[in-house]
Amino acid sequence: MSKRSVLVVCAVVFSSMFVAAGLFAGTAVKDSFKMESKIYTKHTYAAPTLSHKKHVDDYKAKCGDCHHDSKGKPLANLKAGSNVQKCSECHKKPGKKPSGGAKLTDQQKREYHAEALHDNCIGCHKTHNKSLPKGGKKSPVSCNDCHPGGKIK
Ligand code: HEC
Ligand code: HEC
Ligand code: HEC
Ligand code: HEC
Repeated sequence: MSKRSVLVVCAVVFSSMFVAAGLFAGTAVKDSFKMESKIYTKHTYAAPTLSHKKHVDDYKAKCGDCHHDSKGKPLANLKAGSNVQKCSECHKKPGKKPSGGAKLTDQQKREYHAEALHDNCIGCHKTHNKSLPKGGKKSPVSCNDCHPGGKIK
């Protein structure tokens, strides 16, 4: 083979790897969806959209950065078709922790669904924004960036 055709073959193999990876992550979960967990009888903030596929493919987040087992241990080997649980199956209490009252440990706090989600989403975004290259794009950390329009009136 000429050098040129080797290059072409490499390019084809390389790009089909990406297509395969995309399909893989896309079969069991939508590429992008609104987070409107069913444990809420009423949401108070507009539903955030999670670009699930982009987070994996473009932002290079790993399954285990967000999904973990019943002990909180990252699920590093998740695959499309794996039995993935909703966050709310374990972080069961809807909303944020009540204001005032007894001081909760971090773990007690995260029994509240919104606290667990905020810790996960905003936690990574803050870390990401700290090490941005000059002119790099920030990931959202303020309410209305994730909850478009903010509080529901
Ligand atoms: C940035 C965080 C994040 C990353 C990275 C991520 N996920 Fe998810 N994934 C979520 C969230 C949040 C949900 C919605 C869960 C819910 O509704 O409680 C979800 C939902 C899913 C669902 C559907 C579950 C259901 O019952 O609706 C599957 C399947 C899934 N993810 C698989 C994966 C796999 C496989 C990977 C790695 C290739 C991955 N996820 C990477 C955050 C992530
Ligand atoms: C099978 C039960 C289970 C499911 C499903 C689950 N969690 Fe957890 N999670 C735990 C346990 C147990 C811990 C450890 C106790 C703690 O730190 O709160 C934990 C810890 C956490 C933490 C703190 C530790 C860390 O990794 O930073 C965050 C944030 C979190 N979960 C978010 C989520 C999100 C987001 C989802 C859905 C994508 C999810 N959890 C799904 C059980 C679960
Ligand atoms: C492991 C790290 C990580 C976690 C966890 C994470 N994100 Fe992100 N997110 C990123 C990065 C990195 C970017 C943007 C990078 C860029 O634009 O170049 C981003 C961008 C976004 C954006 C703006 C761009 C887009 O794709 O829509 C939204 C909205 C967003 N994230 C929502 C969420 C939500 C909701 C969660 C929790 C369910 C979450 N993210 C969890 C890393 C993370
Ligand atoms: C990185 C994205 C992100 C940011 C920033 C963010 N949230 Fe959230 N928030 C979420 C996600 C995801 C959920 C879970 C929604 C669901 O699954 O139903 C949530 C849930 C909530 C809930 C519980 C659901 C409801 O509608 O009542 C409240 C309240 C809330 N957020 C308020 C806030 C406030 C106030 C701020 C700013 C201080 C904020 N959020 C910032 C992603 C974000």
